Amino acid sequence: MYSRIAGTGSYLPEKVLTNRDLERLVDTSDEWIRSRTGIERRHVAAPGETTTDLAEHAARRALDAAGVRPADVDLICVGTTTPDLVFPNVGTLLQQRLGIQTGCPAFSLEAACTGFIYALGVADKFVRLGESRCALVVGSETLTRIINWKDRGTCVLFADGAGAVVLEPSKEPGILSTRLHSDGRYKDLLLYPDGVSKGFDLVRKGEAAVEMKGNEVFKVAVNTLGQLVTETLNAHRIERDQLDWLIPHQANLRIIEAIARRLELPMERVIVTIGEQGNTSAASVPLALDTGIRDGRVTRGQLLLLEAFGGGFTWGSALIRY
Ligand code: ACO
Repeated sequence: MYSRIAGTGSYLPEKVLTNRDLERLVDTSDEWIRSRTGIERRHVAAPGETTTDLAEHAARRALDAAGVRPADVDLICVGTTTPDLVFPNVGTLLQQRLGIQTGCPAFSLEAACTGFIYALGVADKFVRLGESRCALVVGSETLTRIINWKDRGTCVLFADGAGAVVLEPSKEPGILSTRLHSDGRYKDLLLYPDGVSKGFDLVRKGEAAVEMKGNEVFKVAVNTLGQLVTETLNAHRIERDQLDWLIPHQANLRIIEAIARRLELPMERVIVTIGEQGNTSAASVPLALDTGIRDGRVTRGQLLLLEAFGGGFTWGSALIRY
């Protein structure tokens, strides 16, 4: 038994922030941001617009695409680092929004930018074990809420958005594997340094924001993702030229290009959304997947490699016969 993707959906908030807008906020330039990251603009949630709001739009679109009703959903798993509340979790908030009253399990998990791949890995196992027949898997973030808008090293990168997929059981191969990894030794290179049990002291003082040693993160990300994609293909004895699409986490165009080179894959076979969307953390992979499906590039039967890397560090891949 496999799980297969029955439908996808995504959502970006209306407000757009361009590199020119950022030039007015910090000492940066459109040229620097484009050449170092590939980002041209990004979407930012409106005041009061939450991670659950974004997730609801994406989830409804994915359910429509799959042709299923909210009442059919028997599992909700949301990857997010920016929940509305400490609890209830975003999965449960989404369950209420969708009017699902079946008592199905609904939860969120946190693996920074790898959150969607982790959520997909968990939901895939529920489906393969026969414990779910209609799983809603979401990556949703309002990362811009935890950014220091005076730190040019981070505020030009991050953005808001959501993406979702519906999984259903299939006898034919769908998700072939998910590979999940983490290494806590890197915790100080990329983090948000406050939380519940730390008493929100930095939040209270207005001093909490994402901190990143970008250059060091960059190097580990390229090496680690390079090994991950090789490991994933080798485990399935798949040759690089059998891959139809690389659908990567959108953190930096230079990282994406390095992984494509490693796979000897032309950029025409890579879904790139970073220019218009920035780094939406756990939302970036399902946003890119949905973009490729809706514009007709990604079609049924194709072989897709999804990958992501984020704070922790966490990293993971999903090999999918779509
Ligand atoms: N505008 C202009 N100059 C800038 C900016 C900016 N926005 N940001 C940094 N600089 C300056 C620095 O101050 C530095 O100046 P100096 O040489 O005078 O000290 C110079 O540019 C070079 O800085 P670096 O940090 O070395 O620049 P780099 O080429 O590494 O690019 C970047 C920085 C874009 C952050 C890159 O390192 C990167 O993409 N890192 C990886 C990010 C990532 O993958 N994160 C993981 C996922 S995110 C998650 O999990 C939540």
